[in-house]
Amino acid sequence: MLTTLVASSKGGCGKSTLVTQLASHWAQAGQHTAIVDGDRQHSSFHWAELRPDNVPGVLALEGGRRGLQRVPPDTQQLLIDTPAGSTERDLEPYLESANVLLVPVLPSSFDLDATLHFLDELRSINRIHRGKLPVALVANRLKPWTHASQDAVARLAEQSPFPIAAQLRDSQAYVLLAGLGKGIFDYQSEQVRSHQQDWKALLRWIKRQH
Ligand SMILES: Nc1ncnc2c1ncn2[C@@H]1O[C@H](COP(=O)(O)OP(=O)(O)OP(=O)(O)O)[C@@H](O)[C@H]1O
Ligand SMILES: [Mg+2]
Repeated sequence: MLTTLVASSKGGCGKSTLVTQLASHWAQAGQHTAIVDGDRQHSSFHWAELRPDNVPGVLALEGGRRGLQRVPPDTQQLLIDTPAGSTERDLEPYLESANVLLVPVLPSSFDLDATLHFLDELRSINRIHRGKLPVALVANRLKPWTHASQDAVARLAEQSPFPIAAQLRDSQAYVLLAGLGKGIFDYQSEQVRSHQQDWKALLRWIKRQH
């Protein structure tokens, strides 16, 4: 089983979007996919419950440690969603079982400053420090033609102790599909396929770590 933990000190940066999109990708690839939603907002949990019958299901479990204990043994892909502002102590129940840690970040100076601080804290976590838990950034909601997005990516590349594994564009597709319990990997239209390309580098990075 591959366990992907998604966390950030910042709210609204795309944690649940990352969890649900990756879940739709792996479910569509025929893998037994589960989400443990450690956030009381239950965004990922509700998303999985909304999934219609004509797309492969994703098992959703509430509640941090308790949720982890109920993950079925035949699960191939486990995703863990966490609330904003998680500290090392909050993440502790997941850190031992996670194989990769993804940190989404938005292209604004407030988000960059807070996230760089969070990344610094992550470095002192034993498993991360020892290289046992690989960490990557996901730059999210980019408008690639804007200076703000370009500068943010450049600053992250320069100052982050961890690699940028993906650059995801800002798109209404994510907003619309989230409300339907779906992801971009549940569709094959030309328009959606161009967004799927944005995820290729991240999926490759995750595969390399396993
Ligand atoms: N790439 C994107 N393009 C457009 N909208 C996006 C994108 N990623 C996320 N969003 C939207 O931004 C909002 C916040 O995203 P999301 O809920 O995934 O963040 P979060 O980090 O889980 O938030 P919270 O800290 O509240 O749990 C949602 O409305 C989501 O649909
Ligand atoms: Mg969330």
